[in-house]
Amino acid sequence: ALLPVIMAGGSGTRLWPLSRALYPKQFLVLQGTQSLFQQAHLRLQSLAADDIAVGKPCVVGNEEHRFLVLDQLRELKGEPSSLLLEPVGRNTAPAVTLAALQATAEGADPIMVVTPADQTVTNERAFTQAVQTAVRAAAEGDIVILGITPDRPETGFGYIRTSDADAVGVRGVDAFVEKPDLEKAKAYVADGGYFWNSGMFVMRASRWLAALGHFRPDILAATQASFAARGTDAQFVRPGKAEFAAVPSESVDYAVMEQCPSHPEAGFKVRMVPLDAGWSDLGAWDAVWQVSERDANGNAAQGDALFQSSTNTLVHATSRLVAAVGLDNVVVVETPDAVLVADRNSSQDVKKIVATLEKQS
Ligand code: GDD
Ligand code: MG
Repeated sequence: ALLPVIMAGGSGTRLWPLSRALYPKQFLVLQGTQSLFQQAHLRLQSLAADDIAVGKPCVVGNEEHRFLVLDQLRELKGEPSSLLLEPVGRNTAPAVTLAALQATAEGADPIMVVTPADQTVTNERAFTQAVQTAVRAAAEGDIVILGITPDRPETGFGYIRTSDADAVGVRGVDAFVEKPDLEKAKAYVADGGYFWNSGMFVMRASRWLAALGHFRPDILAATQASFAARGTDAQFVRPGKAEFAAVPSESVDYAVMEQCPSHPEAGFKVRMVPLDAGWSDLGAWDAVWQVSERDANGNAAQGDALFQSSTNTLVHATSRLVAAVGLDNVVVVETPDAVLVADRNSSQDVKKIVATLEKQS
């Protein structure tokens, strides 16, 4: 069966002060009635088809969030096949590697559908179809990424240049550029031949391990050492603490996705399926405003919020009434112990405030 892998160990600092170390954004209900993590789980369960059986998810996250993960799955009558608990974050390459090691530990080699836990999708049907196409393509042995048609020169994403599509719409990937600068991002969007990396990808567990072993043998060896030293307690799998702390921190995008197309001689082909399903990465407050319900003046009220003579403003109130007068393009987030007031266009910089706070504490 297909193995859903949910990467849920990010810290979500750009959504401070709502997103906190003990309760990061993927576990928050930012829109609708389910958390982003729960939405990710349900989307993956919907992939089942005549030729596709979907197993229980493997969740990779931080030790501190283990009960959040279990409680949120239980609310949906779900449970993990395993919950891999990282003592510290080492970014996504080691996280996916832990999932692949766990999946292959007993001799199996499932197709893994790896997904971030910080995204929303509005068209579930289109999502299901695109990912099913990717699953079928991954069964042939490649790494298959889900790609999004870009609509702005966002610098927080990976950019994928593709070649022609085959009969079922799977495209070749001839370049992958993670988080380009603004100049490059603008050129890629203008070019028209580029897609954004959604962060979702599909491949056999063994394929991932082979590709990482080729391009970053150091990360593979260090993650293997921590997995070998693991402790298991019901669904909880804990990699060796000191060993995992010694794993180099790197994202899947830099470690593998950028490398495969630029080293074709290595034989790790990456392909891409376009995903046109109302995808959004809720990376920062601006993106939350984008996906929120807004009034005729473009204002989004979450919680007890009042607007007067304001436009294109987001107010997220959790414990008090918040009134906005004469504001344009502003984000206000109120929590009992911290309030954020930011220019909506600067919402990426909220993480710098969190970095400053961390230095002070
Ligand atoms: N288990 C675990 N451990 N999960 C992690 C870790 C970690 O150390 N770090 C991040 N994650 C999870 C996050 O919770 C999130 O769900 C996902 O992995 C992606 O991490 P982000 O930190 O949100 O990455 P990004 O948004 O900067 O960039 C990625 O996603 C973009 C699309 O949203 C890249 O893949 C880009 O290429 C892509 O365009
Ligand atoms: Mg993200």
